[in-house]
Amino acid sequence: MNDEPKDEVICGCSGTTVGQILALIEQGTTDMDRISRITGVLSGCGGCEFDVQELVNNHKDSA
Ligand code: FES
Repeated sequence: MNDEPKDEVICGCSGTTVGQILALIEQGTTDMDRISRITGVLSGCGGCEFDVQELVNNHKDSA
């Protein structure tokens, strides 16, 4: 599953896009806490947690 649009906002609270998360995963950052601290995801409502985790799960092995 590599068809996520990179400019799609995955976390409305922080405005973080799919592409920003993918860039971090490519750099080897797959820890949710670190991704949260760097991008601001999960720092608001928390509603993006499942989507962010799924993105990490789908891409961490190809990083
Ligand atoms: S959508 Fe990510 S914290 Fe609210």
